[in-house]
Amino acid sequence: MKLKINGQSYDVDAEPETPLLWVLREQLGMTGTKFGCGIGQCGACTVHFDGKAMRSCLLPVVSAGSGEITTIEGITPHPLQAAWIEEQVPQCGYCQSGQLMAAAALLEQIPNPSDAQINSTMTNICRCATYDRIRKGIKRVAADNASATASNTTDTTGGAE
Ligand code: FES
Ligand code: FES
Repeated sequence: MKLKINGQSYDVDAEPETPLLWVLREQLGMTGTKFGCGIGQCGACTVHFDGKAMRSCLLPVVSAGSGEITTIEGITPHPLQAAWIEEQVPQCGYCQSGQLMAAAALLEQIPNPSDAQINSTMTNICRCATYDRIRKGIKRVAADNASATASNTTDTTGGAE
C-alpha cells in the first residue's frame, strides 16, 4: 500500500492493521517518532495526520494511506525546536519529539494560545515533568507569531496608499 509521508510517496508492505508507528520506525527508518506505551496514552508517537496531531501507535496503516502524514523529520527545522533549546526544555528527551509534534499542530490551529488552551491540548506525558518549560517554549514561539502578525498588519496599512 502507499503512504504519503513528509510530501513523499512510499510503498510499504504491511498487514493492514499494523500501527503506523511500526511502519515508520521499522520499515522506513524514521526513528524520530518514538514508541512509549503503544496504547495511545503517552503521545511519544505523535505525528500529524492531515495536519492534526495523531498517535501513530493507534493508527492502522490501512487508514493512514487515506491522508497526509508528517513526522518530526518533516517539520525539522521548526521554530519550536529553537525555542526548546532556548528554554532548555528536554530532560531525558524521550518524549520531546512527540511534544514538539503536538505543539506544532496546536500552533497551526491557534497561533497564540492561552495557558488554558495549551494545557487542554498538550496531553502528551513527560515522565521528567518538563511541562512548565514546554509551555514556555510554546509561548515563546506564540509571542514571535503575534509580533510577526502585528508587523505584517502595520506593513499592510503602511503600504496601502
Ligand atoms: S506510544 Fe503511542 S501514545 Fe504512547
Ligand atoms: S523529557 Fe524525559 S520524558 Fe519528557
